[in-house]
Amino acid sequence: MARIQVSGGRRLSGTVEISGAKNAVLPILMAALLTRRPCRLAGVPYLRDVATTMQLLGQMGVAISVDDRARVSLDAAGLSTDLAPYDLVKTMRASILVLGPLLARHGSARVSLPGGCAIGARPVDLHLKGLAAMGAEINVEGGYIHARAERLHGARVVLDTVTVTGTENILMAATLAAGTTVIENAAQEPEVVDLAECLISMGAQISGHGTNTITVVGRERLEGYDYRVVPDRIETGTFLVAAAMTGGKVRTINTRPNIMDAVLQKLEEAGAELSVGDDSIELDMQGRRPRSVNITTAPYPGFPTDMQAQFTALNAIAEGTGVVRETIFENRFMHVQELQRLGADMRVEGNTVIIRGVERLTGAPLMATDLRASASLLLAGLVAEGETVVDRVYHIDRGYENIEEKFGQLGAAIRRLPVS
Ligand code: EPZ
Repeated sequence: MARIQVSGGRRLSGTVEISGAKNAVLPILMAALLTRRPCRLAGVPYLRDVATTMQLLGQMGVAISVDDRARVSLDAAGLSTDLAPYDLVKTMRASILVLGPLLARHGSARVSLPGGCAIGARPVDLHLKGLAAMGAEINVEGGYIHARAERLHGARVVLDTVTVTGTENILMAATLAAGTTVIENAAQEPEVVDLAECLISMGAQISGHGTNTITVVGRERLEGYDYRVVPDRIETGTFLVAAAMTGGKVRTINTRPNIMDAVLQKLEEAGAELSVGDDSIELDMQGRRPRSVNITTAPYPGFPTDMQAQFTALNAIAEGTGVVRETIFENRFMHVQELQRLGADMRVEGNTVIIRGVERLTGAPLMATDLRASASLLLAGLVAEGETVVDRVYHIDRGYENIEEKFGQLGAAIRRLPVS
């Protein structure tokens, strides 16, 4: 398994360029299934999940090519199958996002149930309930979702829980349904907004995206897209937390400050000096140790669950006691026992972790379990004395482009170890 070694104690400084948002790229690539026209997407990050998505779409008969400037061209005119097989879906739950587009464009879909993952059961019941409300016949057997619909029709879908990919599946299906669909309690995440904007560029009639009520008037067909994906707010936040933890000064560029209010507010509470431009955020910790902060995760615009592990790591070495509450997923504390191996003083009580900041951590071998937990282990390794080796970094490669190069450019002593 690939491993990354980091030697702690270096103060990060310099500039890092932010890549396109993983959680916007994935649904937008799937949206190419909605049309027979060619599509082109710019700003695509080089990530395992993007490679998996292109493999999945390629298997379905979508013609895909990537040029040397991270632009992906897709053409789904030759769509040849409606199958999303288990061997791919089990490596990337977001594969469920082919369901809505296949039903809308092709009239049928066979998608493996994603199954759970390290951070929780991750059911897709709300995806299925919404599509059934739009006229899809859905049954689940043999671990697969079998769905059919001559033509989906508009419906009023009230989502019991805010679900990002659930909103995205129903939104994409609604663009080609007969009539109007209203999605209540819709996710407001910037990645949902980016998908909606891309769909609108294809001719979809969508309003209310970015609020909790999205209205879609279905069309007969959609054009292709020529679109650039929104920058990754979670990658941005991860580098800013790394700067705060190491007492450094880091400038993130090609990012989107106006979708990061909750995270930037917590960084200021931790004592960071922020200077924010149109597409840049600079964090200066001026050599100080961060102060502990209290976090409660929530759907956007609340504090993002995908930044919880990173702030848990920050609290591990901060001044004071921080309380972190995870309200989105039932098991998103896998990083805690790994951080404890470095000497962190934290304990989990239900969906809360209480963290008493310590002066220093000591490097140790660690095991990555899920994407954002793995990032928090690297962050802790940046400040732990001595060497920290994080194993199973394929988790990190799912969501961070060239992470060791980017940290290396900022002065970290970090390298990927040859596979043993
Ligand atoms: C998306 O996952 C993101 N992934 C996740 O990012 C992110 O953590 C999550 O949203 C929350 O922001 C992508 O966009 C590809 P949900 P998603 O459906 O859509 C429950 C990362 O690190 N739920 O919003 O799968 C669910 O169990 C990844 O980049 C149902 O009960 O998350 C959870 O408790 C990790 N039934 C809550 O809703 C459903 O049908 C929110 O999940 C769907 C969800």
